[in-house]
Amino acid sequence: MTYDVKCWECGRVVSDPYLDSCPGCGGLLDLEMNLTELNDLTPYDLRKRPIGVWRYAPFLPVDEKNAISIKEGGTPLYNCRSLASVVGLNRIWVKYEGANPTGSFKDRGMTVGVTRALEIGAKVVGCASTGNTSASLAAYAAKAGLDCAVVLPAGNVAAGKLAQAVFFGAKVIAIDGNFDDALRIVRELAAKRHLYLLNSINPYRPEGQKTVAFEIVDQLDFRVPDRIVLPVGNAGNIWSVYKGLAELNRIGWIAKIPKIVGVQASGSMPIVDAFNAGKSDFTPIEKPETVATAIRIGNPVSGKKALKAIYDTKGCAVAVSDGEILDAQKILGRSEGIGVEPASAASVAGMIKLVQTGEIGKDERVVCICTGNVLKDPDIVLKSFGRIKPIHADFESVKKAVVPHER
Ligand code: F0G
Repeated sequence: MTYDVKCWECGRVVSDPYLDSCPGCGGLLDLEMNLTELNDLTPYDLRKRPIGVWRYAPFLPVDEKNAISIKEGGTPLYNCRSLASVVGLNRIWVKYEGANPTGSFKDRGMTVGVTRALEIGAKVVGCASTGNTSASLAAYAAKAGLDCAVVLPAGNVAAGKLAQAVFFGAKVIAIDGNFDDALRIVRELAAKRHLYLLNSINPYRPEGQKTVAFEIVDQLDFRVPDRIVLPVGNAGNIWSVYKGLAELNRIGWIAKIPKIVGVQASGSMPIVDAFNAGKSDFTPIEKPETVATAIRIGNPVSGKKALKAIYDTKGCAVAVSDGEILDAQKILGRSEGIGVEPASAASVAGMIKLVQTGEIGKDERVVCICTGNVLKDPDIVLKSFGRIKPIHADFESVKKAVVPHER
């Protein structure tokens, strides 16, 4: 599809592919798609293709013939009856993004972002990351044959994510700062053309990520849910979901847009603070802290877009404690067999909280997006169980451990 890259704030058209913000006012960039080109397309035309990011190629800003794909998207939308009865709602679905090739939703954005990198002739790609972006970019760069550098906050990236970035051959650079510091530095490297930046401030990333909204609606046979709940870190994904839904609404494929709920950890909640104060911009938090390291971000680069997504859909933002996040992670795992990392469990924790406060009504149809796989952060799971002590390797000892009350 044809499109314009425009400043989201002042509307200026931007043509330099290395810019990540408006050269005039410094605003965020966005892709304005020429949706009238899709006038003759129907949802049923798309269904001739397997579900996944590239089913929605007519909505994407890159040429599918160039696609660097590892078969991303097409993730399950689980109808979670047990979770619903635990939480006290009639209908809950979990969109399980942990089933993507590298185990997180980032693959949707990277298949488009790395394809774009090749189209503009970039040789080196890079990002700052709390872990998943680096794991995903490393894999797609490997597939594309591009050099890749990832800058990470030392000591605050979960083991699974770090292992992936190393494994796929990225140059892994740990800094003694947090994610916000890392992003500031890679943006400067990109501005000086040392790398092509693939954080979600790159407006091509949300174009891939918006397909999660397409899939949710597609999997529900175009009966849109009342709410979509998701975690917010750097705030690219909540914008992507909103953009996808708004596009479907504009071309008349859906009649309403669900309320969008952004969930943050209480030690890292600039968007929730802004929402509670009724503001359209946020104040960064200096030292964000949370067990959900993926969303340990104090200065979300797309924070203003997140607030627009929330206000435009009459949604809300809510904070949850680390304890609530870990409880929700366990509830989801134990009731549905779905394993998610802490940041992803934040969406479930946020939904539980809003049911308790009465904000979400019993009859609402709610979709929680669970962004990453439990295997990303095995340490956090093992920590809550303590040490597993070995016992004697004989039948009686093991039997006693398995069925302690049977003789
Ligand atoms: N969930 C997970 C598992 C994440 O890894 C992230 C972000 C988010 C939610 C929040 O998404 O930033 O679009 O609001 N992870 C980034 C990273 C920051 O570097 O991997 P967001």
